Amino acid sequence: MSMKQTEAINQNSFKFAERLNKLPVYLFAEIDRLKQEVKAKGVNVISFGIGDPDLSAPKSIVNVLKEESEIDINQKYPSYEGLLKFRESAANWYEKRFGVLLDPQTEVLSLIGSKEGIGHLPLAFVNPGDIVLVPDPGYPVYNAGTIFAGGTPYIMPLKQENDFLPDFSIIPKSVFEKTRIMFLNYPNNPTSAKADKFFFSEVVKLAKKHNFIVAHDFAYSEVFTGDGDAEPESFLSVKGAKDIGVEFHSLSKTFNMTGFRIGFVCGNKQILSGLGAVKTNLDSGIFQPIQIAGAYGLNNELQVIKENNKIYRKRKDLLVEGLERLGYNVYKSDVTFYVWAKVPVEGTSSKDFALSLLNDKGIVVTPGSGFGEYGEGYIRFSLTISEDLIKEALERMAQ
Ligand code: MLT
Repeated sequence: MSMKQTEAINQNSFKFAERLNKLPVYLFAEIDRLKQEVKAKGVNVISFGIGDPDLSAPKSIVNVLKEESEIDINQKYPSYEGLLKFRESAANWYEKRFGVLLDPQTEVLSLIGSKEGIGHLPLAFVNPGDIVLVPDPGYPVYNAGTIFAGGTPYIMPLKQENDFLPDFSIIPKSVFEKTRIMFLNYPNNPTSAKADKFFFSEVVKLAKKHNFIVAHDFAYSEVFTGDGDAEPESFLSVKGAKDIGVEFHSLSKTFNMTGFRIGFVCGNKQILSGLGAVKTNLDSGIFQPIQIAGAYGLNNELQVIKENNKIYRKRKDLLVEGLERLGYNVYKSDVTFYVWAKVPVEGTSSKDFALSLLNDKGIVVTPGSGFGEYGEGYIRFSLTISEDLIKEALERMAQ
């Protein structure tokens, strides 16, 4: 919904609640609207916008979903905490992939995509006046969930000079005292930065000292375009992390299943039971065939991840080389399918630059400012389009 629509509705008798007025229009909804406007003029738009993989979900996963949908019992209400079969598959995968042991009964909870769990978590633990530490630039849902719960987001700037890791030394003690949750996200969206075990250990110490929850968004854990085994690290694999933290996962990017809406959160059981209590009151679980299909993927389709990553690597190399040829300053990274680059025109805001790319070249990128004030000066390219389209976009940009 555009700003104008929001204003028009507010002029009627049905005014939006304050909490909605505190939020900007959801970033990707706004970009989508602008894209449709340009498309309607007949422009063949190339979109580096939302991170929605163009690659398909594995056929075998789709087939399991089809078959399971035919079974009568699967068409009834699912269980609130998620199908044990799905949670067991998640726990098995966690042990094999990250060496983290989880009890599928109490330490894994199915989600309607990680976004849903992230958005609802503050409702379980945040009271008005409480603080939630939110990375900026960051996924807009950390902020939105905090505001919906009546909490106050406190921004942790992610700056390039710190490799887009927060600097905890600048957060006042008085803020830590009121902090209930810290959101973190590595591999990071939008910057494509990564974190190591040392950083995560520091986070654990801090959280224990000030008694807050760490909510680690790990949606991009499997998107790795580097060599060797320097794959992304799990926050939960660090000593003591399970005492204070949870990790959010999504099958969206792992198996190209964005539309299925399936993910899970795992880790500290008390935190999971709080989130579970919120969810029991608000939703009725996830269609069982989707959970069975997701379990099938985690058990049988992990090789697909490597194939996808090879494709993302080629796209990344192509785009980064092309952008650098055009004079862009690109942040080099081997995680996520995002490319984070500085706005190449001095004195132009990221939003104005993104709008000019859309209007003049028919190319969608996401302005960094849409992820928060510290995203200003950057734009994000999502590598979820083919090499041919990337080449065409680079040609258009060169003209
Ligand atoms: C993004 O483009 O940042 C993500 O795809 C949004 C999401 O995962 O909801």
